Amino acid sequence: MAFNFEIKKRTYVAVRDKCVEQLKADDRDNALINLDQAVALSNELIAHCQIPELTTKFKSEQATLLKIKAKLAEGINPYTQKKPEPIPQGAGKPAAAKPEEAPKAKYFTTDAPNHTLEDVAGLEDVKQQIKLNVLLRLQNPDLYFHYHDTSGCRILMYGPPGTGKTFVAECIAGELKCPYANIKIQDILDKYVGEAPRKIKEIFEEANTYDNCLLFFDEIDGMCSSRDSDDSAHTKDILTTFLTCMSGFGTDSKEKVRVIIAATNRPWALDSALIRGHRFDTQLYVTLPDYDARLFLVKKNFKKHMDIIEGSDITMEEIATELEGWSGADIDSIITKMKDYAMNRTIANPDAPYEKVTRADFDKAKASSRNSVVPESLVAFEAFRKGEL
Ligand SMILES: Nc1ncnc2c1ncn2[C@@H]1O[C@H](COP(=O)(O)OP(=O)(O)OP(=O)(O)O)[C@@H](O)[C@H]1O
Ligand SMILES: [Mg+2]
Repeated sequence: MAFNFEIKKRTYVAVRDKCVEQLKADDRDNALINLDQAVALSNELIAHCQIPELTTKFKSEQATLLKIKAKLAEGINPYTQKKPEPIPQGAGKPAAAKPEEAPKAKYFTTDAPNHTLEDVAGLEDVKQQIKLNVLLRLQNPDLYFHYHDTSGCRILMYGPPGTGKTFVAECIAGELKCPYANIKIQDILDKYVGEAPRKIKEIFEEANTYDNCLLFFDEIDGMCSSRDSDDSAHTKDILTTFLTCMSGFGTDSKEKVRVIIAATNRPWALDSALIRGHRFDTQLYVTLPDYDARLFLVKKNFKKHMDIIEGSDITMEEIATELEGWSGADIDSIITKMKDYAMNRTIANPDAPYEKVTRADFDKAKASSRNSVVPESLVAFEAFRKGEL
């Protein structure tokens, strides 16, 4: 087939954009595949380009792609691992520290995510609780503390995989714009005995240097599972250290609001000490999306290029209806597959107009996907919500 510059350029742009999207989601393996493909495509474009300005542009983009590749080889994702920025004056200023003594941020960042609670599909109860219990404390402390005492703000979000727990935490950080730490289990666990408790202490020590901050522990079950279920002294040490650090963690007042949020998709595996009393006293069930939430997610996926679905033999409403029982993450991934099928057809038919997604694409994407939520687990979540587990 003759070299079709336009279609090659279109493919390059799609692959490059996909790579950036994957890097932002820290999906490095897939990003690397697309990165290599984008570099290969840019080579072809440079070789065939007749317009000098455009050639320069492709060369400059290719240089950027190669720099990203080099960073990835060093283990750095330039889209997610920026250097911690200096702490700005204001809400997140280190408590009682002179500027020259400002501690070096290791776990916290002031680089807030871009999304807000408006980007969360459904989960109206969860959003309402967060607005009242978290946002108001920081955004209108006079009002909040007029009605409430100064007990800490500790929230546990639980629910099936892919329902948006991690995403909601990022949205809260995006709303608050105070120093934020997103602690994943792999940041803490260590093969050397004693290292994990040391890191936990270090995290809380750093948190204590801020007036206001948000500390998020993702997949907390990996760190704080029931003491009865695992006899190792190592696991017990981690949990005990975590509980101690949490009880000694600053006081919550008008001037100092320190929020701890944790997420899990196995709440029943958590040690009961975590759920009791003043530990994680607010527990929010992050459920599967209902019809309106699914439609919101489907629309969000097509928002940038509605023409991909408009006029097709399947509607967004049909997709939302037929994905009942699937998580938000599953819905995103099914639609991504549909778009990939349509894109591949476009690549195969360079002279035809851009292909739309079709009912057949949906059926194929759904059939080749695995629903990450097993119905039996919903029974367990419901039982946990009612306090029966
Ligand atoms: N309710 C929702 N609103 C908006 N986006 C959602 C929602 N649920 C899932 N998503 C999308 O799915 C992606 C994956 O969701 P996320 O990682 O937050 O799920 P999770 O509940 O933390 O899953 P896990 O229990 O496996 O950690 C999100 O980044 C987001 O794009
Ligand atoms: Mg998660």
